[in-house]
Amino acid sequence: MPIDGTARCLVVDDDAQVRHALAKVIEGHGLATVQAASGREALEVLQHHGEIPLVISDINMPEMDGIAFLKEALRRHSDLAVIMLTGVTEVTTAVECLKLGALDYIAKPVVIEEVRARVDKALEKRQLVLENRFYQHNLELRVRDLDRRNRQSLINGVQTLVHALEAKDAYTSGHSSRVSRYAVRTAVQLGYTGEMLEQIRLGGELHDIGKIGTREDILNKPGPLTLDEFEHVKAHSALGERILAPFLSESPMVLRIVRSHHERIDGAGFPDGIYAADIPREARIVAVVDAFDAMTTNRAYRPSRTTVDAMEELERCAGTHFDSEVVDAFRRAFPDVSVLPLGT
Ligand SMILES: [Fe+2]
Repeated sequence: MPIDGTARCLVVDDDAQVRHALAKVIEGHGLATVQAASGREALEVLQHHGEIPLVISDINMPEMDGIAFLKEALRRHSDLAVIMLTGVTEVTTAVECLKLGALDYIAKPVVIEEVRARVDKALEKRQLVLENRFYQHNLELRVRDLDRRNRQSLINGVQTLVHALEAKDAYTSGHSSRVSRYAVRTAVQLGYTGEMLEQIRLGGELHDIGKIGTREDILNKPGPLTLDEFEHVKAHSALGERILAPFLSESPMVLRIVRSHHERIDGAGFPDGIYAADIPREARIVAVVDAFDAMTTNRAYRPSRTTVDAMEELERCAGTHFDSEVVDAFRRAFPDVSVLPLGT
């Protein structure tokens, strides 16, 4: 059946006379029409000829009846507005059609004014559904964007805190940023991309946030720490996790990194003393690069070691303190250790 680009209403009826008459009424109402003599033909029209928003379909048709057509048409084109034509004795069938998603029904014999009114109403309803869907989708996008921006501004605030913390201590200045960058380069070697890589970046940046709660005199103590003092310092990883937990619920790996960046694969680390496989690999990455940066920068209690020396130390402790695979990835990420430490 010939179709032009302006067709807007598909009329489906096996009775050519009824079909033509209906099409005429609808065209007189200002809508272009296209006709199909069966459900199957109507599906083909819908599939091949642009957007047709409205269908008026008879129920009793040979081959594929109106109900089977309605189901299939709505399955393929969920935005379609469908009006069913029913005989006066087919009220229960009409109700069934409405349940299946038809927007309306017209009882035969067809009254011209009724057709016009139902067509207008159906198109109006469809428009409302589409507008509502558009509004909802936009609202969802806006909420998601707002959520992302809120989260980012909170993270920025925490990062500012980290930098303020580092500024108090000349020895650790830039430590978090370097750990973050080393961790990302190492993670890339291990195949990380996307969201998890972003969590590693953030985990590296925030891993020592809990030191906000560490006493300054202990943080900057030039000599070795007493057992009690060391216990006090050890609290920073679990404290960091608690500080960040309220607003990083969607980035659980950041929290795991912060909590577990001092765990050792031989179980001798803290705060949980867990073993290799129980420590998330992401935390094992930060553990390695954190140790490297600590070794290669001056600390209150000792001067820095050379990068070559620090790399050898990591390799010496691989398999006991550190994850061998991660140490290997770190070496591959920085084959020329003379470029380290990276500037801030
Ligand atoms: Fe730490």
